[in-house]
Amino acid sequence: MNPLVSNTVPGPLLGVNIDHVATLRNARGGNFPDPVRLAQMAVDGGADIITFHLREDRRHIRDADVQRMKAEIAVPLNFESAVTQEMLGIIAQVRPQYVCLVPERRLEITTEGGLDVAGQFARVRDACATLAAIGCRVSLFIEANRQQMEAAAQAGAPCVELHTGAYANAYEAGDTAKIQSELTRIHEGIALAQSLGLQTNAGHGLTLASTPSIAAQPWVQELHIGHALVGHALAVGMERSVRDFKAVIARARAAQPPVPSR
Ligand code: PXP
Repeated sequence: MNPLVSNTVPGPLLGVNIDHVATLRNARGGNFPDPVRLAQMAVDGGADIITFHLREDRRHIRDADVQRMKAEIAVPLNFESAVTQEMLGIIAQVRPQYVCLVPERRLEITTEGGLDVAGQFARVRDACATLAAIGCRVSLFIEANRQQMEAAAQAGAPCVELHTGAYANAYEAGDTAKIQSELTRIHEGIALAQSLGLQTNAGHGLTLASTPSIAAQPWVQELHIGHALVGHALAVGMERSVRDFKAVIARARAAQPPVPSR
């Protein structure tokens, strides 16, 4: 096999996080807008994966949405989940292709910080084993730091998703120094993940403007994007929004030289 990963491939896959369609629906109760319909439109626009987070308080996606997503959406589903027995039980029944284990605090507005794998190692390791046994690919949503990355590898996860929130916030604030330091941290995190044999995904807070610097990072295989993509869809429609995000991802990756595979 060619030892070079060709960057002529159109860049990381795009997982479209559909939670915020449900947020809008729930603002008025009822069934409109329907997150499953919008998920299908995202797929029609080229989404490679549909991502959702069934939270303990069901503040956006609900159990019935998950069931319908499984029945109606043909691309892989990425089920973001807290490490709880309740969620593991639901996942065992739904059997999504991918599960991303995330931290969850009831009062947070969105997922803050990465999962503390090192601090709850046995619990995460057991969840990874349970999910692997039912055929779900597990990824751990972590900060790009050595302690968490090594714990993720030891816990048996095949995959990590690096938290890009601090980078995205710096980008929004126009803080050039912080943007650079965060990109360096993410870049080093990706290299470390590669050395540990972990597939590397990334996401959180990314916008059309801030996505290219992450998409351009060698070895990033999936980007999971929600809030900004659903927001953009309000202006241009869901299919066009997905196409716009896919285009910036593909352009950013195509501009990079080929990199050696691990
Ligand atoms: N990845 C993970 C693990 C997340 O928890 C979220 C938010 O639910 C995202 C990606 C998407 O973040 P955003 O909605 O800010 O694009």
